[in-house]
Amino acid sequence: MRLLIHPMREEDLAEVMELERRAFASPWTRDMYLRELEKPEGCYIIARQEGELAGYGGTLLILDEAHVMTLAVREDRRRRGIGARLLLELVRRSEEKGARFLTLEVRKSNLAAIELYGRFGFQIMGERKHYYLDNLENALIMWTDDIGTPEYRRLLEELWERYGDEEEG
Ligand SMILES: CC(C)(COP(=O)(O)OP(=O)(O)OC[C@H]1O[C@@H](n2cnc3c(N)ncnc32)[C@H](O)[C@@H]1OP(=O)(O)O)[C@@H](O)C(=O)NCCC(=O)NCCS
Repeated sequence: MRLLIHPMREEDLAEVMELERRAFASPWTRDMYLRELEKPEGCYIIARQEGELAGYGGTLLILDEAHVMTLAVREDRRRRGIGARLLLELVRRSEEKGARFLTLEVRKSNLAAIELYGRFGFQIMGERKHYYLDNLENALIMWTDDIGTPEYRRLLEELWERYGDEEEG
């Protein structure tokens, strides 16, 4: 099924909120998204398949660091490369805005996300105790190396080859 990626707009938020509530234990509110969408340093995108929301993600650029703020794929469309594709787009768009490093926080128990981020060269650089207030779970802090280095360019090329095309099936 063809995957179309667009910037997130206010009109998308009803669907985004539906997935947000299913995907996260502490979902963001619609107002939080509206505020994010207004930030010039933000980059929020959605993926659609046959008109339906399949996933979304966003980064916020702080100096030369792109912070991955959110990433979610519909449960019935997971493990088909959509999360990786969204992340590839976010890296490309963040880099265009001046990002040199990527960083994020992730629940320590979120093995799927940690594995995905590992593929993108994120390494665990620290841990924040009791960061998530719903269950006081720790957050892992992950960072990439400089995304402009030849090594990281090569990794991105490999990832584009693997996940860049529309997903099959
Ligand atoms: C994390 C999430 C966005 C991944 O989306 P996805 O579309 O299923 O991921 P992809 O299919 O692009 O996976 C790419 C790679 O990530 C890794 N990965 C993804 N899901 C995985 C899982 N459940 N177990 C192990 N590895 C996983 C694999 O290496 C995978 O590559 P492969 O399928 O070629 O082996 C999705 O599971 C999700 O929406 N989770 C709920 C919200 C969430 O936790 N977001 C992250 C917040 S920090």
